[in-house]
Amino acid sequence: MIAAPLGPNAPIIGRIARWLVWFAFVLPILSNDQTAESASVLTPPTTPTIEAEPITPIPQPPVVDPLKLALGERLFNDSRLSHNQTFSCASCHDIHTDGANSSHSVEPRMPFTTLTVFNAALNFRLGWQGNFRSLEAQAKSSIENPAGMASSIEDVLTRLNADPTIVQQFEQAYGRELDEAGMLDAIATYERSLLTPDSRFDQWLKGNQTALTMEEQSGYKLFKSLGCVSCHQGVNVGGNLYERHGIFHPLASRGPAILRVPSLRNVAVLAPYFHDGSAPTLDDAVRKMARAQLDQTLTDDQVAAITAFLRTLTGKYRGTPVVTDVR
Ligand code: HEC
Ligand code: HEC
Repeated sequence: MIAAPLGPNAPIIGRIARWLVWFAFVLPILSNDQTAESASVLTPPTTPTIEAEPITPIPQPPVVDPLKLALGERLFNDSRLSHNQTFSCASCHDIHTDGANSSHSVEPRMPFTTLTVFNAALNFRLGWQGNFRSLEAQAKSSIENPAGMASSIEDVLTRLNADPTIVQQFEQAYGRELDEAGMLDAIATYERSLLTPDSRFDQWLKGNQTALTMEEQSGYKLFKSLGCVSCHQGVNVGGNLYERHGIFHPLASRGPAILRVPSLRNVAVLAPYFHDGSAPTLDDAVRKMARAQLDQTLTDDQVAAITAFLRTLTGKYRGTPVVTDVR
Protein backbone atom coordinates (compact mmCIF):
# COMPACT_ATOMS: atom_id res chain seq x y z
CA MET A 1 0.00 0.00 0.00
CA ILE A 2 1.60 3.28 -1.05
CA ALA A 3 -0.34 5.21 1.58
CA ALA A 4 1.08 3.20 4.47
CA PRO A 5 4.39 5.06 4.93
CA LEU A 6 2.60 8.39 5.16
CA GLY A 7 1.16 7.66 8.59
CA PRO A 8 -2.27 8.47 10.08
CA ASN A 9 -2.96 11.35 7.67
CA ALA A 10 -2.81 9.11 4.66
CA PRO A 11 -6.58 8.84 4.06
CA ILE A 12 -6.94 12.63 4.08
CA ILE A 13 -3.94 13.16 1.81
CA GLY A 14 -5.31 10.52 -0.48
CA ARG A 15 -8.67 12.30 -0.58
CA ILE A 16 -7.04 15.69 -1.28
CA ALA A 17 -5.01 14.12 -4.06
CA ARG A 18 -8.14 12.72 -5.62
CA TRP A 19 -9.84 16.16 -5.47
CA LEU A 20 -6.76 17.76 -7.08
CA VAL A 21 -6.97 15.27 -9.91
CA TRP A 22 -10.68 16.01 -10.24
CA PHE A 23 -10.19 19.80 -10.38
CA ALA A 24 -7.14 19.66 -12.64
CA PHE A 25 -8.36 17.16 -15.19
CA VAL A 26 -11.91 15.97 -14.89
CA LEU A 27 -13.77 19.26 -14.44
CA PRO A 28 -12.12 20.97 -17.42
CA ILE A 29 -13.07 17.99 -19.54
CA LEU A 30 -16.65 18.14 -18.34
CA SER A 31 -17.00 21.87 -18.93
CA ASN A 32 -14.84 22.50 -22.04
CA ASP A 33 -14.41 19.42 -24.11
CA GLN A 34 -16.50 19.92 -27.19
CA THR A 35 -15.88 16.57 -28.86
CA ALA A 36 -19.00 15.07 -30.31
CA GLU A 37 -18.89 12.20 -27.87
CA SER A 38 -18.86 14.27 -24.67
CA ALA A 39 -21.31 16.82 -26.11
CA SER A 40 -23.90 14.14 -26.62
CA VAL A 41 -23.49 13.08 -23.02
CA LEU A 42 -23.46 16.59 -21.59
CA THR A 43 -26.09 18.42 -23.64
CA PRO A 44 -28.90 19.38 -21.23
CA PRO A 45 -32.00 17.28 -21.82
CA THR A 46 -34.56 19.01 -24.05
CA THR A 47 -37.36 17.55 -21.96
CA PRO A 48 -38.06 20.08 -19.19
CA THR A 49 -37.06 18.80 -15.81
CA ILE A 50 -39.03 19.85 -12.74
CA GLU A 51 -35.87 20.88 -10.86
CA ALA A 52 -34.81 23.28 -13.60
CA GLU A 53 -38.01 25.35 -13.65
CA PRO A 54 -39.03 28.07 -11.17
CA ILE A 55 -42.58 26.65 -11.09
CA THR A 56 -43.41 23.17 -9.82
CA PRO A 57 -46.53 21.06 -10.47
CA ILE A 58 -49.51 21.07 -8.10
CA PRO A 59 -49.35 17.81 -6.12
CA GLN A 60 -52.25 15.41 -5.73
CA PRO A 61 -54.34 16.27 -2.62
CA PRO A 62 -52.99 14.77 0.62
CA VAL A 63 -54.52 11.58 1.96
CA VAL A 64 -56.54 12.59 5.02
CA ASP A 65 -59.02 11.08 7.45
CA PRO A 66 -62.22 10.70 5.38
CA LEU A 67 -64.42 11.41 8.43
CA LYS A 68 -62.75 14.76 9.07
CA LEU A 69 -62.85 15.56 5.37
CA ALA A 70 -66.58 14.83 5.14
CA LEU A 71 -67.31 16.89 8.24
CA GLY A 72 -65.24 19.78 6.88
CA GLU A 73 -67.08 19.68 3.56
CA ARG A 74 -70.39 19.73 5.39
CA LEU A 75 -69.37 22.70 7.56
CA PHE A 76 -68.05 24.57 4.51
CA ASN A 77 -71.57 24.32 3.05
CA ASP A 78 -73.38 25.11 6.32
CA SER A 79 -75.16 28.46 6.46
CA ARG A 80 -75.41 28.25 10.26
CA LEU A 81 -71.89 29.66 10.24
CA SER A 82 -73.21 33.09 9.19
CA HIS A 83 -74.91 35.51 11.58
CA ASN A 84 -78.30 35.41 9.85
CA GLN A 85 -77.89 31.77 8.81
CA THR A 86 -78.39 32.58 5.14
CA PHE A 87 -74.97 31.97 3.59
CA SER A 88 -72.09 29.55 3.93
CA CYS A 89 -68.43 29.57 2.93
CA ALA A 90 -69.58 27.96 -0.33
CA SER A 91 -71.86 30.93 -1.11
CA CYS A 92 -68.71 32.96 -1.81
CA HIS A 93 -66.39 30.05 -2.69
CA ASP A 94 -68.18 27.91 -5.26
CA ILE A 95 -66.11 24.77 -5.66
CA HIS A 96 -68.27 23.64 -8.60
CA THR A 97 -66.82 26.48 -10.66
CA ASP A 98 -63.69 28.44 -9.70
CA GLY A 99 -63.60 28.29 -5.88
CA ALA A 100 -64.51 31.96 -5.75
CA ASN A 101 -67.58 33.97 -6.57
CA SER A 102 -68.74 37.50 -6.51
CA SER A 103 -68.70 38.03 -2.76
CA HIS A 104 -70.50 41.30 -3.35
CA SER A 105 -73.60 39.45 -4.44
CA VAL A 106 -73.68 37.85 -0.97
CA GLU A 107 -72.09 40.48 1.21
CA PRO A 108 -71.68 43.94 -0.31
CA ARG A 109 -69.38 45.09 2.48
CA MET A 110 -66.47 42.78 1.57
CA PRO A 111 -63.60 45.19 0.82
CA PHE A 112 -61.75 43.04 -1.73
CA THR A 113 -62.64 40.61 -4.50
CA THR A 114 -62.98 36.98 -3.45
CA LEU A 115 -59.85 34.85 -3.54
CA THR A 116 -60.34 31.29 -4.70
CA VAL A 117 -60.08 28.51 -2.13
CA PHE A 118 -58.54 26.26 -4.79
CA ASN A 119 -54.86 25.70 -3.94
CA ALA A 120 -55.11 28.25 -1.10
CA ALA A 121 -53.52 25.59 1.13
CA LEU A 122 -50.31 25.99 -0.90
CA ASN A 123 -49.97 29.74 -0.26
CA PHE A 124 -47.48 30.78 2.44
CA ARG A 125 -49.93 33.30 3.92
CA LEU A 126 -53.63 33.80 3.31
CA GLY A 127 -55.70 36.75 2.15
CA TRP A 128 -54.82 39.59 -0.25
CA GLN A 129 -52.70 41.15 2.47
CA GLY A 130 -51.35 37.83 3.68
CA ASN A 131 -52.63 38.42 7.20
CA PHE A 132 -53.22 34.78 8.10
CA ARG A 133 -50.63 32.08 8.67
CA SER A 134 -52.98 29.12 8.72
CA LEU A 135 -56.24 27.96 7.17
CA GLU A 136 -57.64 27.60 10.69
CA ALA A 137 -56.91 31.25 11.56
CA GLN A 138 -58.33 32.36 8.21
CA ALA A 139 -61.52 30.30 8.70
CA LYS A 140 -62.02 31.77 12.17
CA SER A 141 -61.69 35.25 10.72
CA SER A 142 -64.16 34.45 7.90
CA ILE A 143 -66.73 33.44 10.50
CA GLU A 144 -66.15 36.45 12.75
CA ASN A 145 -65.33 39.20 10.24
CA PRO A 146 -68.09 41.83 10.57
CA ALA A 147 -67.94 42.40 6.79
CA GLY A 148 -68.19 38.65 6.18
CA MET A 149 -70.22 36.07 8.09
CA ALA A 150 -70.37 38.44 11.09
CA SER A 151 -70.93 35.55 13.46
CA SER A 152 -69.06 34.41 16.57
CA ILE A 153 -67.44 31.03 17.18
CA GLU A 154 -69.51 30.72 20.34
CA ASP A 155 -72.82 31.26 18.51
CA VAL A 156 -71.84 28.86 15.75
CA LEU A 157 -70.90 26.14 18.27
CA THR A 158 -74.20 26.65 20.10
CA ARG A 159 -76.17 26.31 16.85
CA LEU A 160 -74.22 23.24 15.70
CA ASN A 161 -74.40 21.58 19.13
CA ALA A 162 -78.18 21.70 18.87
CA ASP A 163 -77.97 19.42 15.81
CA PRO A 164 -77.58 15.76 16.85
CA THR A 165 -76.31 14.62 13.43
CA ILE A 166 -73.43 17.14 13.42
CA VAL A 167 -72.61 16.32 17.06
CA GLN A 168 -72.48 12.63 16.23
CA GLN A 169 -70.45 13.17 13.04
CA PHE A 170 -67.99 15.24 15.05
CA GLU A 171 -67.64 12.64 17.76
CA GLN A 172 -66.97 9.93 15.19
CA ALA A 173 -64.29 12.02 13.49
CA TYR A 174 -62.59 13.52 16.55
CA GLY A 175 -63.57 11.25 19.46
CA ARG A 176 -64.72 14.18 21.59
CA GLU A 177 -67.38 16.84 21.87
CA LEU A 178 -67.70 19.49 19.18
CA ASP A 179 -65.31 22.35 19.93
CA GLU A 180 -63.67 25.32 18.20
CA ALA A 181 -60.33 23.66 17.46
CA GLY A 182 -62.01 20.61 15.93
CA MET A 183 -64.46 22.65 13.87
CA LEU A 184 -61.65 24.78 12.41
CA ASP A 185 -59.49 21.70 11.85
CA ALA A 186 -62.28 19.98 9.90
CA ILE A 187 -62.77 23.02 7.65
CA ALA A 188 -59.00 23.31 7.10
CA THR A 189 -58.74 19.57 6.35
CA TYR A 190 -61.38 19.98 3.66
CA GLU A 191 -59.62 23.05 2.24
CA ARG A 192 -56.34 21.11 1.99
CA SER A 193 -58.13 18.74 -0.36
CA LEU A 194 -59.11 21.59 -2.71
CA LEU A 195 -56.08 21.26 -4.99
CA THR A 196 -56.26 21.44 -8.77
CA PRO A 197 -53.46 19.30 -10.25
CA ASP A 198 -53.07 18.22 -13.89
CA SER A 199 -53.15 21.57 -15.70
CA ARG A 200 -51.63 21.42 -19.17
CA PHE A 201 -48.68 23.41 -17.89
CA ASP A 202 -48.05 20.84 -15.14
CA GLN A 203 -48.25 18.05 -17.70
CA TRP A 204 -45.60 19.88 -19.70
CA LEU A 205 -43.45 20.38 -16.57
CA LYS A 206 -43.63 16.65 -16.00
CA GLY A 207 -42.18 16.03 -19.45
CA ASN A 208 -45.13 15.89 -21.87
CA GLN A 209 -43.77 18.21 -24.54
CA THR A 210 -46.92 18.13 -26.65
CA ALA A 211 -49.00 19.52 -23.77
CA LEU A 212 -48.17 23.12 -24.78
CA THR A 213 -48.30 24.84 -28.18
CA MET A 214 -45.35 26.87 -29.45
CA GLU A 215 -47.15 30.11 -28.58
CA GLU A 216 -47.82 28.92 -25.02
CA GLN A 217 -44.19 27.92 -24.61
CA SER A 218 -43.00 31.27 -25.92
CA GLY A 219 -45.41 32.96 -23.49
CA TYR A 220 -43.80 31.05 -20.65
CA LYS A 221 -40.33 32.08 -21.87
CA LEU A 222 -41.46 35.72 -21.91
CA PHE A 223 -42.95 35.32 -18.44
CA LYS A 224 -39.49 34.29 -17.27
CA SER A 225 -37.35 36.69 -19.33
CA LEU A 226 -39.46 39.78 -18.58
CA GLY A 227 -39.25 39.04 -14.85
CA CYS A 228 -42.88 38.14 -14.03
CA VAL A 229 -41.45 34.98 -12.51
CA SER A 230 -39.48 36.95 -9.93
CA CYS A 231 -42.79 37.51 -8.12
CA HIS A 232 -45.03 34.78 -9.54
CA GLN A 233 -43.16 31.52 -8.91
CA GLY A 234 -43.17 28.27 -6.98
CA VAL A 235 -45.93 25.70 -6.91
CA ASN A 236 -48.71 28.34 -6.97
CA VAL A 237 -47.07 30.73 -9.46
CA GLY A 238 -47.31 33.28 -6.64
CA GLY A 239 -48.57 33.10 -3.08
CA ASN A 240 -45.09 32.93 -1.55
CA LEU A 241 -43.99 36.58 -1.29
CA TYR A 242 -45.16 40.01 -0.18
CA GLU A 243 -44.70 42.78 -2.75
CA ARG A 244 -45.57 46.37 -3.38
CA HIS A 245 -47.94 46.94 -6.27
CA GLY A 246 -47.59 49.91 -8.61
CA ILE A 247 -43.78 49.93 -8.34
CA PHE A 248 -43.17 51.97 -11.55
CA HIS A 249 -46.69 53.21 -12.31
CA PRO A 250 -49.91 53.09 -10.28
CA LEU A 251 -51.81 49.83 -10.72
CA ALA A 252 -55.09 49.48 -8.89
CA SER A 253 -56.55 51.23 -5.84
CA ARG A 254 -53.59 52.47 -3.80
CA GLY A 255 -54.36 50.83 -0.52
CA PRO A 256 -53.16 48.48 0.80
CA ALA A 257 -49.70 49.24 -0.60
CA ILE A 258 -48.22 45.81 0.15
CA LEU A 259 -49.97 42.64 -0.93
CA ARG A 260 -49.22 38.97 -0.90
CA VAL A 261 -48.43 38.25 -4.54
CA PRO A 262 -51.51 36.36 -5.75
CA SER A 263 -51.28 32.85 -7.18
CA LEU A 264 -51.81 32.64 -10.95
CA ARG A 265 -53.10 29.05 -10.78
CA ASN A 266 -56.49 28.94 -12.60
CA VAL A 267 -56.10 32.68 -13.27
CA ALA A 268 -57.83 32.48 -16.66
CA VAL A 269 -61.17 31.66 -15.01
CA LEU A 270 -60.86 34.19 -12.17
CA ALA A 271 -61.73 37.57 -13.76
CA PRO A 272 -62.01 40.35 -12.73
CA TYR A 273 -58.42 40.86 -11.57
CA PHE A 274 -56.51 42.62 -8.79
CA HIS A 275 -57.60 43.09 -5.20
CA ASP A 276 -60.14 45.72 -6.24
CA GLY A 277 -61.32 43.90 -9.38
CA SER A 278 -60.20 46.84 -11.52
CA ALA A 279 -58.92 44.78 -14.48
CA PRO A 280 -61.87 43.16 -16.28
CA THR A 281 -59.88 40.84 -18.57
CA LEU A 282 -56.69 38.80 -18.44
CA ASP A 283 -55.23 40.83 -21.34
CA ASP A 284 -55.81 44.00 -19.40
CA ALA A 285 -54.31 42.56 -16.20
CA VAL A 286 -51.15 41.37 -18.00
CA ARG A 287 -50.61 44.70 -19.79
CA LYS A 288 -51.08 46.65 -16.55
CA MET A 289 -48.82 44.28 -14.58
CA ALA A 290 -45.95 44.67 -17.05
CA ARG A 291 -46.20 48.46 -16.91
CA ALA A 292 -46.81 48.84 -13.17
CA GLN A 293 -44.39 46.19 -11.87
CA LEU A 294 -41.70 46.04 -14.58
CA ASP A 295 -41.95 49.38 -16.46
CA GLN A 296 -42.50 47.46 -19.70
CA THR A 297 -44.98 48.25 -22.45
CA LEU A 298 -45.91 44.94 -24.06
CA THR A 299 -46.77 44.46 -27.74
CA ASP A 300 -50.08 42.80 -28.65
CA ASP A 301 -48.17 39.64 -29.62
CA GLN A 302 -46.43 39.52 -26.26
CA VAL A 303 -49.73 39.93 -24.41
CA ALA A 304 -51.28 37.18 -26.55
CA ALA A 305 -48.39 34.80 -25.84
CA ILE A 306 -48.37 35.46 -22.08
CA THR A 307 -52.13 35.08 -21.74
CA ALA A 308 -51.93 31.88 -23.82
CA PHE A 309 -49.39 30.58 -21.29
CA LEU A 310 -51.52 31.71 -18.32
CA ARG A 311 -54.52 29.83 -19.73
CA THR A 312 -52.52 26.59 -19.48
CA LEU A 313 -52.46 27.01 -15.68
CA THR A 314 -56.09 25.91 -15.33
CA GLY A 315 -56.15 22.63 -13.42
CA LYS A 316 -58.67 19.99 -12.41
CA TYR A 317 -60.57 19.53 -9.19
CA ARG A 318 -61.44 15.87 -8.61
CA GLY A 319 -60.69 15.26 -12.28
CA THR A 320 -62.99 18.00 -13.64
CA PRO A 321 -61.51 21.17 -15.16
CA VAL A 322 -61.98 24.33 -13.09
CA VAL A 323 -64.36 26.69 -14.90
CA THR A 324 -65.32 30.31 -14.60
CA ASP A 325 -68.46 31.09 -12.64
CA VAL A 326 -71.11 33.19 -14.28
CA ARG A 327 -71.15 36.50 -12.49
C1 HEC B 1 -69.18 36.97 1.95
C2 HEC B 1 -68.31 36.20 1.12
C3 HEC B 1 -67.36 35.22 1.78
C4 HEC B 1 -67.68 34.22 2.68
C5 HEC B 1 -69.03 33.87 3.25
C6 HEC B 1 -66.43 33.53 2.94
N1 HEC B 1 -65.42 34.09 2.22
FE1 HEC B 1 -63.52 33.41 2.14
N2 HEC B 1 -62.98 35.06 1.13
C7 HEC B 1 -63.85 36.07 0.72
C8 HEC B 1 -63.09 37.21 0.26
C9 HEC B 1 -63.68 38.54 -0.24
C10 HEC B 1 -61.73 36.87 0.43
C11 HEC B 1 -60.53 37.78 0.23
C12 HEC B 1 -60.51 38.63 1.48
C13 HEC B 1 -59.20 39.27 1.84
O1 HEC B 1 -58.18 38.84 1.36
O2 HEC B 1 -59.21 40.21 2.64
C14 HEC B 1 -61.71 35.50 0.96
C15 HEC B 1 -60.53 34.79 1.23
C16 HEC B 1 -60.53 33.47 1.66
C17 HEC B 1 -59.34 32.64 1.74
C18 HEC B 1 -57.92 33.03 1.37
C19 HEC B 1 -57.48 32.44 0.07
C20 HEC B 1 -56.06 32.78 -0.26
O3 HEC B 1 -55.54 32.33 -1.26
O4 HEC B 1 -55.42 33.52 0.48
C21 HEC B 1 -59.74 31.43 2.25
C22 HEC B 1 -58.87 30.22 2.52
C23 HEC B 1 -61.17 31.53 2.50
N3 HEC B 1 -61.61 32.77 2.10
C24 HEC B 1 -61.93 30.53 3.11
C25 HEC B 1 -63.22 30.76 3.58
C26 HEC B 1 -63.92 29.89 4.53
C27 HEC B 1 -63.35 28.63 5.11
C28 HEC B 1 -65.14 30.44 4.74
C29 HEC B 1 -66.24 29.98 5.68
C30 HEC B 1 -65.85 29.79 7.07
C31 HEC B 1 -65.21 31.65 3.92
N4 HEC B 1 -64.03 31.81 3.25
C32 HEC B 1 -66.32 32.46 3.81
C33 HEC B 1 -65.21 35.99 0.72
C34 HEC B 1 -65.94 35.13 1.53
C1 HEC C 1 -42.82 42.96 -8.30
C2 HEC C 1 -43.72 41.82 -8.21
C3 HEC C 1 -44.55 41.47 -9.44
C4 HEC C 1 -44.13 41.31 -10.75
C5 HEC C 1 -42.73 41.52 -11.31
C6 HEC C 1 -45.29 40.90 -11.49
N1 HEC C 1 -46.37 40.78 -10.65
FE1 HEC C 1 -48.24 40.20 -11.20
N2 HEC C 1 -48.92 40.69 -9.35
C7 HEC C 1 -48.15 41.18 -8.31
C8 HEC C 1 -49.02 41.67 -7.26
C9 HEC C 1 -48.58 42.28 -5.95
C10 HEC C 1 -50.35 41.49 -7.72
C11 HEC C 1 -51.63 41.90 -7.01
C12 HEC C 1 -52.00 43.31 -7.47
C13 HEC C 1 -53.34 43.78 -6.96
O1 HEC C 1 -54.17 42.98 -6.63
O2 HEC C 1 -53.55 45.01 -6.90
C14 HEC C 1 -50.24 40.85 -9.02
C15 HEC C 1 -51.34 40.44 -9.80
C16 HEC C 1 -51.25 39.82 -11.03
C17 HEC C 1 -52.37 39.33 -11.78
C18 HEC C 1 -53.83 39.32 -11.33
C19 HEC C 1 -54.10 38.13 -10.45
C20 HEC C 1 -55.47 38.14 -9.83
O3 HEC C 1 -55.94 37.06 -9.44
O4 HEC C 1 -56.09 39.20 -9.67
C21 HEC C 1 -51.88 38.83 -12.97
C22 HEC C 1 -52.68 38.19 -14.10
C23 HEC C 1 -50.46 39.03 -12.95
N3 HEC C 1 -50.11 39.62 -11.75
C24 HEC C 1 -49.58 38.69 -13.98
C25 HEC C 1 -48.27 39.16 -14.06
C26 HEC C 1 -47.48 39.13 -15.28
C27 HEC C 1 -47.91 38.54 -16.60
C28 HEC C 1 -46.29 39.72 -14.96
C29 HEC C 1 -45.13 40.03 -15.89
C30 HEC C 1 -45.48 40.87 -17.05
C31 HEC C 1 -46.33 40.08 -13.56
N4 HEC C 1 -47.56 39.73 -13.05
C32 HEC C 1 -45.28 40.66 -12.86
C33 HEC C 1 -46.77 41.20 -8.28
C34 HEC C 1 -45.96 41.14 -9.40
